[in-house]
Parts: sequence; structure tokens; C-alpha cells
Amino acid sequence: MGKLSRAALLYISAVVAAAVVLVARGPFTGLSWQYVVFLGILVIVSESRATQLRKGQLTWSSSSAAMLASVVLVGPVGAAMVGACTALGLRRGPSVLQRVFNTAMYALSAYLAGRAFLALGGQVGLPGENSFPGIIWPFAGAALVLVAANHGLLSGVLWLTRGPDQGAAAALGSQGVGLSGRLLLSDLGYAAYGLLIAALWSVVGPFAPLLVLIPLFVARWAVAQFAEQQKAYEATVGALCQAVETKDFYTRGHSDRVSRGSVMIAREIGMRGERVEAIRYAGMLHDVGKLGVPTKVLRKTGTLTDQEYAAIQLHPMRGLDIVREIGFLDEALAGIMHHHERIDGRGYPMGLAGEEIPEFARVLAVADAFDSMTSTRSYRGARPVGEAVAELRKWSGTQFDPAFVDAFVAALRREGWQRPEPPRPPGSPLLGSEDLAALTEPDHDDPGTPLRVIDSL
Ligand SMILES: [Fe+2]
Repeated sequence: MGKLSRAALLYISAVVAAAVVLVARGPFTGLSWQYVVFLGILVIVSESRATQLRKGQLTWSSSSAAMLASVVLVGPVGAAMVGACTALGLRRGPSVLQRVFNTAMYALSAYLAGRAFLALGGQVGLPGENSFPGIIWPFAGAALVLVAANHGLLSGVLWLTRGPDQGAAAALGSQGVGLSGRLLLSDLGYAAYGLLIAALWSVVGPFAPLLVLIPLFVARWAVAQFAEQQKAYEATVGALCQAVETKDFYTRGHSDRVSRGSVMIAREIGMRGERVEAIRYAGMLHDVGKLGVPTKVLRKTGTLTDQEYAAIQLHPMRGLDIVREIGFLDEALAGIMHHHERIDGRGYPMGLAGEEIPEFARVLAVADAFDSMTSTRSYRGARPVGEAVAELRKWSGTQFDPAFVDAFVAALRREGWQRPEPPRPPGSPLLGSEDLAALTEPDHDDPGTPLRVIDSL
């Protein structure tokens, strides 16, 4: 763990001290230990089985439901004790200090939620038929206080531990994502289950949490499977991209940027979520067919022979051959195969024109050409963004779909574009302008590259 600042240590100590003092003050008389034990176990299980969602960004735990049920059933002190059970969660990863802070944070948040419940007129104990709807508002207030206190306390520690190298922040604040709006909403959503558990307890006793949370655990398991599947997809696509870029180092990062540009266009035209995801994959894999093009042709810096040029023009078909069996690519396959078609019908491999060209391919073509122009190539330096936009406009309607050029330019104005660093081929010095001028074969993605008709291979 990185070294924490004095302010961070003071903050953590203050949170821990506040939690200990508030719980130690009691009162403990009349506290139903049965509820504390059952709900405490539920918190431990929830914390141990917290589900990590996509990209390691979001952790989904149902412990807030158990804490809020304890607010209703056992009041502030009992709720703080249930919250403190997070210390016993079996989740791997948190350091001792992180675990201590989290425990104090949950205990304090649950205590404050319990106080809010009482202050808003809530009655501690098993809710009965007459408790509704009166209990809803105190419960909603308690839920808001729990979530706000949780996220507020966590924000504090993240802010204080955010050093120049972020090391300590990473050590303590791996839950930094906890501050995300999505997690906030998920916590508030889980809060409703807390009231359900408390209300059902009078009917089925300690089985209430099981009845309420088992379906949620099952749903969470399904989400976890989906997240695992997504990780496998990302790894597959990443490995293929890596292979292409190893073979053709001048296009390093190109797949990523074409993917980003395609997503910008897709969002701009209001494409729905799953198609945006598919076009992201299409961007990553659009040139995967280069794996089927001889390396010496890809790396050749002089003029290509007709045969070599034909080999390059085959890459969309080769790409389709390589990835067609990957089920999740679906619509992305059409994008990969047709990303060099032109609106005027003079592209390849099929010579499709206008709307005959699949939408994904028309989107990819714009992002692909733009990134090619704004990146360094073996025969020229990177062109400025403004110049590349002018070039897209120039070829709009002949090479590119005008609607997608407009969409890309609009998205660019809003989001900007980071041009890549010039690539440095392994073992080679960076090419100077004289070297660049000496090399003549244009990248196949450059718009305006003269069309060559190849009669035979
Ligand atoms: Fe290509």
C-alpha cells in the first residue's frame, strides 16, 4: 500500500472512531440479537459474493438491502452492527486498512440511516399491516441517508488519498467506481428490497431475506456469466487486433481508433446500444484480413506491383474468412467485408454502391479514412484534423456516405480527436520527412488513393 498522507489517516481514524463511539454508546437493551445475527450473515454473504460487472468498473452488492432491513427491525445501533459485518466478508482484494475503513463506513452509514428513520417518524420493529403506507417515507429517507453517507464517506477517502501517482488511492480506493451514478442508482434500487425483507419477516421470519434475495442472487449470477462472456469477447477481439498490429506496425492503434470513430458516428446517428457495441467490434476487426496478406507486402515501402495490390485488396474477404465463425460478431461481419466499398460503386471487393453497402461498412469507411489521414504513414506525416475533415468533405458523396461524414464531423466538434504519436518500428529510428518523401506507396485507407483495376492475380 502506498504511504497515506496525515490528512487521510486522520480522516480514516475519525470515521472509525465515530463508528466505534456510536455503536458502543448503545443502547443494547431490547435489541433483538436474532435479527442482528441473521442480517449480519446476509451482509457477509452479500459482501463475499459481490459481483464485478464489465471492465472491472462496477461492484454489485446487495448488502445495502440487509442494512436497511435492519434499520427497520433493530434501529440505529443494531443497523450499525449489521453494517459492521462487512468486515467479515470473504471478498479477496481489500487491504486491512481498506477493510477497517469500509467496516466503519458501513457501520456509520447504517447508524445515520437508522437515526433518519426515527427522525422521520419510523417505528423500530416488525412492520405490520398498519405500518403501510406510513413507513414508506421514513424508510425512503433512511435509504437516501444510507446511500448518501456511504458515497460521501468514500468520496472523502478517495479525495484525500489521491496522490500524484494515485498509488495510495488505488490501494484504498479500488472502489472508486463506487462514486459512479450507476452504482448510486443500484444501491437505491436495492434499498427497496430492505423494506420488503422487513415486511415479510412478520410472515415468514428469518426466511424473509432468503425469499427476497435468492431470486436476486440468481439474477446476479446470470449477470456475472454475461460479464464473463463479455470479457471473453474482448480478449478474442484484442488478440486478433494485436496479431494484425504486430504484423503491420504502421497501423498500431489504428483498429482502436477506427473503433472509437465508428462508435462516435453510431451514437451521433442514434444507433441503438447493441448495434453500437457490434460496430465497436467491427472497428476493432475491420482489417483483420491483413493476417492473410503477406507481411512483406504490408511492410513494403516502394510501389506495389499489381499482384501485391491485389493481395491487399483481398483483405476484406480474408477478414470475413477469419472471423465468420465468431458468433457474436453478427452484423460486424458485413462491416468488415465491405469497409472498402465506395458510395459511387468503385470500391472493393464487390463494387456495391449507395445503400447496397451495409450501414456498418459505410460508417467504418469514414472513421477508417479519417484515422489513416491523421496518422503517420511510412510515406507521409500525420495530417491535421482540419485538413482530414476537408478531405472527408471532398470525397463525401463519391467515396463516403454524406450523412455519416456529417455525423462524424458533428461528433468531432463535440468530443475532439487525439491524434496518435508517430509509430516507431521496432529497431528503427523515427522516419524523418526526407525518408517519408522517398517512400511512395499510399496506405489503402487513404481517400484519394488512385484506383487500380487488377485484371488477374
Ligand atoms: Fe482495410
